[in-house]
Amino acid sequence: MIVTIDGPAGAGKSSVAKRLADRLGYDFLDTGAMYRVVALAGLRSGIDWDDADAVAQLVRSVDIRFEDPRILLNGEDVSGAIRANETTVAVRHVADHPDVRQHLVSLQRQFAVGRNLVTEGRDQGTLVFPGAACKFFLNASAQERARRRVADLRVRGQEVPFEDILRQQQRRDDEDRQRPLGGLIMAADALQIDTDGISLDRVVQRLEQIVRRRVEQLAGEPTADSTDNQS
Ligand code: DC
Repeated sequence: MIVTIDGPAGAGKSSVAKRLADRLGYDFLDTGAMYRVVALAGLRSGIDWDDADAVAQLVRSVDIRFEDPRILLNGEDVSGAIRANETTVAVRHVADHPDVRQHLVSLQRQFAVGRNLVTEGRDQGTLVFPGAACKFFLNASAQERARRRVADLRVRGQEVPFEDILRQQQRRDDEDRQRPLGGLIMAADALQIDTDGISLDRVVQRLEQIVRRRVEQLAGEPTADSTDNQS
């Protein structure tokens, strides 16, 4: 069973998706982390982001692995480095690139094979797993999301003024929504959850209830075989 969680930056997707996966005993996939790893690799190699061929080569040259809770770039743990503000600012160069998207989407689908999965990003319920059994769209106000990001960076030892984060976030929201391929859109069959002023635990509880209900519902649905037998 695939559960998708999409939404804008700072809506709480990663934390919610991780906890939800733990409670359900499902695997967890943070697709934003994959885009971040490629951006970090590009920053480290001093890539010219305007060189589309070089960016396409970059994504094919990196080895991305998840070793829960760490993410590895060519074997190195980069879980902290990919959250640094420089990486966040650079990530659009890879997220906008069609070859990068195609490659990462293919890795995401491979990862899902044979698993029960909670996956989060921007395009999971629309483009990557349109047939997912349970889809959520997590949202929160721009102010609330920026506050969370400032707090998150502070924990990581980076002090960035709230106004700067708000401005960067506005830009990233616009880029994420306007991206022709894999842009941020709510799937027609997704359930929208507003996380403003609601604790993470409450959000996770609510999602867990909905997923469990869906699992029961699917278990009770006649299979193609049993339908054939009745005719
Ligand atoms: O969720 P995040 O902030 O870690 O994502 C980082 C960037 O990666 C985000 O600005 C847009 C991009 N992204 C994407 O284009 N598609 C995804 N499925 C996930 C993230």
